Amino acid sequence: MNTYIRLINSIPQIPVELETQLLDYANKMQKSAAEGTPRDYKLQFLTNPDNPAMQFKYQVFRDIAAAAEQGIPLLGFEKKKGAAGVANFGEGYFQTTHQYIKFDELPDVKEWIKENIPFKFTDSKFQIIHGGNVLLPHVDLLQEQVLKYIVEPGGDNVKTAHYVPKLEFAQHAIFPSLAFPYSRLDEVGSVVIPPRAWHTLDVKTIHGVSGLETRRVCLSFKLN
Ligand SMILES: [Fe+2]
Repeated sequence: MNTYIRLINSIPQIPVELETQLLDYANKMQKSAAEGTPRDYKLQFLTNPDNPAMQFKYQVFRDIAAAAEQGIPLLGFEKKKGAAGVANFGEGYFQTTHQYIKFDELPDVKEWIKENIPFKFTDSKFQIIHGGNVLLPHVDLLQEQVLKYIVEPGGDNVKTAHYVPKLEFAQHAIFPSLAFPYSRLDEVGSVVIPPRAWHTLDVKTIHGVSGLETRRVCLSFKLN
């Protein structure tokens, strides 16, 4: 589809009965934005990206502090848990709640995956993205390449885009705990990935999702 997203046609679609099991499980496990998520920095309140004071306020991660000690400015802004779990990003976007759920209670799905996915993967999970219209540009923590399958796309025109920092921000520090404002980025690729199409996604390059109207449900497998 582009350099960052490749369709894998050799893996079949998930059978309807297993998809039903998956969605029933997703419905059971989905939390409201207010209830939060196990990885709380994924539940994000983003402060005004143009307020330089925030860069000091959010030196809470060791790696970010190291960048600050060396005087390296951050490209993005720390994602902070808000009371409602969803908040205005400052550029007028609302960040989503992002939940990861293990398949452990779905033996049939696990079996199907074992029989049909030819890749070695080190982690597998459901992703439910809900409660907002974008998943802001970011890089993933601990994974570089993922295999994905979208069960519910979240709308008819949901785009997965990749970005590079604009030239004037090229020397800024990038960390997985940050979200990057669109105003500092140039888009280098954008695709509406169809549902039920297995594909790989480069998640070490800055990427994000936009155009969400309803929740998005995907399966995700860590390949590195
Ligand atoms: Fe990501």
